[in-house]
Amino acid sequence: MTAPVVQGTRASGNHPVGFRVNGQAVNVEVAPLGRLSDVLRDDLGLTGTKVGCEAGDCGACTIRLDGRQAVACCVPAAQADGSEITTVEGLAGEDGSPSDLQAAFLEHGAAQCGICTPGMLMAADTLLRENPAADDRAILDGIGGVLCRCTGYVKIVEAIAATRDARLARPPDFASGASASAAPGAIAGSAVGSRLPKVDGLPRVLGTARFGADHRPEDVLAVRAIRSPHARARFEIGDLEPFRAAHPGIVDILTAGDIPGQNRYGIYPSGKDQPALADGVVRHRGEAVLALVGDERTIAAFDERHLPIKWHPEEPVRTIDEALAPGAPHLHEASPGNILVEGRLATGDIDAVLAHAGANAGTSAGAPTGAIAEIEVETTHVEHAYIEPEAGVARRVGDRIELTVSTQAPYMDRDEVALILGISPAGVRIIPTACGGGFGGKLDLGVHPLIALAAWRTGRPCRAVWTRPESMAVSPKRHPARIRAEAAADARGNLTAFRFHGDFDTGAYASWGPTVANRVPVHAMGPYRWGAVLATTRAVYTDNPPAGAFRGFGVPQAAIAHEGLMDDLAAALGRDPLEFRLANALRAGDRTPSGQRLAASAGLPACLEALRPHWDRLRAEARAQNRTSNGGARRGVGIGAMWYGIGNTALANPSTIEMGVTRDARVVLLCGAVDIGQGASTVLVQIASDALGVPVAAVDLVSGDTDRTADAGKSSASRQTFVSGNAARLAGEDLRRQILLLAEVDDGSITLEPAGADQPGRIVVTDREGRAVPIELAELPQVDVTDAETPCVLAGRGTFDPDTTPLDGDGQGVPYQTYAFGAQVADVEVDPALGTVKVRRIVAAHDVGRAINPTQVEGQIHGGIAQGLGMALLEAYVPGRTENLHDYLIPTAGDMPQIECILVEDPEPAGPYGAKGVGEPALIPTAPAILGAIRDAVGVRITQLPATPDRVRAAIRGG
Ligand code: FES
Repeated sequence: MTAPVVQGTRASGNHPVGFRVNGQAVNVEVAPLGRLSDVLRDDLGLTGTKVGCEAGDCGACTIRLDGRQAVACCVPAAQADGSEITTVEGLAGEDGSPSDLQAAFLEHGAAQCGICTPGMLMAADTLLRENPAADDRAILDGIGGVLCRCTGYVKIVEAIAATRDARLARPPDFASGASASAAPGAIAGSAVGSRLPKVDGLPRVLGTARFGADHRPEDVLAVRAIRSPHARARFEIGDLEPFRAAHPGIVDILTAGDIPGQNRYGIYPSGKDQPALADGVVRHRGEAVLALVGDERTIAAFDERHLPIKWHPEEPVRTIDEALAPGAPHLHEASPGNILVEGRLATGDIDAVLAHAGANAGTSAGAPTGAIAEIEVETTHVEHAYIEPEAGVARRVGDRIELTVSTQAPYMDRDEVALILGISPAGVRIIPTACGGGFGGKLDLGVHPLIALAAWRTGRPCRAVWTRPESMAVSPKRHPARIRAEAAADARGNLTAFRFHGDFDTGAYASWGPTVANRVPVHAMGPYRWGAVLATTRAVYTDNPPAGAFRGFGVPQAAIAHEGLMDDLAAALGRDPLEFRLANALRAGDRTPSGQRLAASAGLPACLEALRPHWDRLRAEARAQNRTSNGGARRGVGIGAMWYGIGNTALANPSTIEMGVTRDARVVLLCGAVDIGQGASTVLVQIASDALGVPVAAVDLVSGDTDRTADAGKSSASRQTFVSGNAARLAGEDLRRQILLLAEVDDGSITLEPAGADQPGRIVVTDREGRAVPIELAELPQVDVTDAETPCVLAGRGTFDPDTTPLDGDGQGVPYQTYAFGAQVADVEVDPALGTVKVRRIVAAHDVGRAINPTQVEGQIHGGIAQGLGMALLEAYVPGRTENLHDYLIPTAGDMPQIECILVEDPEPAGPYGAKGVGEPALIPTAPAILGAIRDAVGVRITQLPATPDRVRAAIRGG
């Protein structure tokens, strides 16, 4: 039989190549240096192989090539001639069922966003073929070339080890799709609290989930932004017409003058300061000044130096100090002094209390009379480093525009795109793709404005996929912070005063700077009872890339200061750091520094008590080890605690969710909340199905599409479980109420009898006496739901908006309805000669109210710890220098410590089944705990992050 011949679509040459992929022979014609990853994805449609960097750094494109792992982006396609290739699509059985390894990934929660999962599976599958008895160290080595930004690798290793153990216990059968079960449906009413596999997990492990770059419609045009090489410059664009005529492959060229609507976007109505295309001035390196639209090959090969752009570079404002210096250039006219916004919280007479504390600090007759401590903290830019760069495609459909795009905020995207195109929000449809990681970075617009504008003008589908350097140059970062704080305690260890000031580098544009400036003062003093507090913040413009939302909105930076001070005060008073925190922990009934009384669910004391035995044991082990270290590595144990308000700060953030029943007795959850890997879809289905009283397996999910769902807000601020979870619960309860009403039954069980060949769909309600009441769905009229594609005959609707109040000028009020609490203990080993820090173990206790899905909660904690570890020890983004995953280091599997999760469930009465949230809280205490452990090990306090070996070594040497 002749193998099919596939002509490469991106190839510029005609080099014939033949190989076998997933057991099938293929012949393709490729460019000699074309990437194998492009051939697999673009020519053969095997989009399960993901591309995250095109440099061999991330490993997302890992395949098996002649029996060995290979990163397909670094293999010239011509070199694959005659080879045997397996991609993730080749792992499943012929019937499409997942292999045992894929099923284990699903069962163990090893795939969160899923963008790394195909590469991770190929690495693991290849490892287990080479070494069926691979121990945990070999597993870590085997997957060491694949980066995961979501999971902290813990559940990935668990899944691989479980597969290994199962295979060793029975004869291996690699060739067949294995029998392991996928996503079982739960019994009605039992979903909440169960370890249900992700409802959207199967496509992620099979490699069939479609992310932003996986959408490539026929007749698509590529969009390439041309970006500023300067951090600050004026520029002029010359005559583009001769240029356009000379390049027939270029269909359109977009400049600021082509934007039909408002060339300013941003998160807040009063803070829209970011242009879709710069108009004569650039404020950060990488800012887009024009965009080329055309066929992909022409666009990709084009040398941008030929463009008629004249640059006038100016000295950029790089630091907070430079921005605040007298005579500094005004980066935005509306913000004199370069201060975007200030935040403040004040209670009590801070000056008087601190003066009194200063006078009394010290010891008398060997006993402490009080303590006062100061700290200065400096943190740097941290990159989200999601493995999926920004990508999407736009289509013009009549007078509407549709964007299929990777995002965590579809409704905000809709409104922003409408503003830029000068059309009504109703004219914009956002269809979220699978999102390959967000962590806050995909709350801002990415490719959206340019693909929308290109499609709007050309009438053809237009697509953009940012390169890794492009993504890292222009996507928002964690705010670099410069913090100064002091705190005091009296002789009995009561916390009397806390003063804090933090300046946050918000970069070139506002983005989420106002959120950071307003959230930090509420949290700056940590989860403790204080007397007087003054916390002030400023978000400061510079010419750096915009800083935006990143898992915690500035609170992780502030936590380094308050936890450092807690360690100082404990040391000065001769108190154990854990016991000192426990004595001062906020509890139910306490008032926060905002004046809010915590009515319930304040589980920090329970977290600290749960950690105590680990703390005592690890401290004892560390001390015993250090006694015999003889100048070698020293162990230390530290602790960090946190609190975090769930949802927006003192602002409305409602969520609306619908749940309907179709005539054929299918239940559909119409849910505008986007799952960015954190498990929102699964959690919301669990909540809604229990509220309705049907098995999870009966519920279909429509997620995120702005034409088909109501607005459930953005996936940020750890809000989806609490806010959208409540909306899902209300929707389920509303639908249940209607069904019981129709059946004229007070209470009972609901059974769905789907339509079959000789039976219309029906619901049977069985009352407490066992009487069955059928509801014939064919007889019911259609009802209105947002989704016109899913006609429903019954529908419930739920809307929830947290009960908050605005804050006054002193930050007094009710900023959040509920708070998450947690604490982590870190056990580290420091090499004093090299300054290297190895985190051995982290024990994390988090009060999540109720763990709707313990597997998902643990996964969030693992992932948060990985990002917190990176922030503490590794990660420093430098504009223009670390715009790739080779120079910018994120934790690999080998960097991760052992992690133990303790889930504390202090139910939140206002939460869905008692739940709160954990997405951001998991990251916050990690860096403080690690820094405290370093101090415990070698006696130095590192306050400039990351704590790289040179900094640790210099601190040890007193430098
Ligand atoms: Fe690994 Fe998201 S699950 S990067």
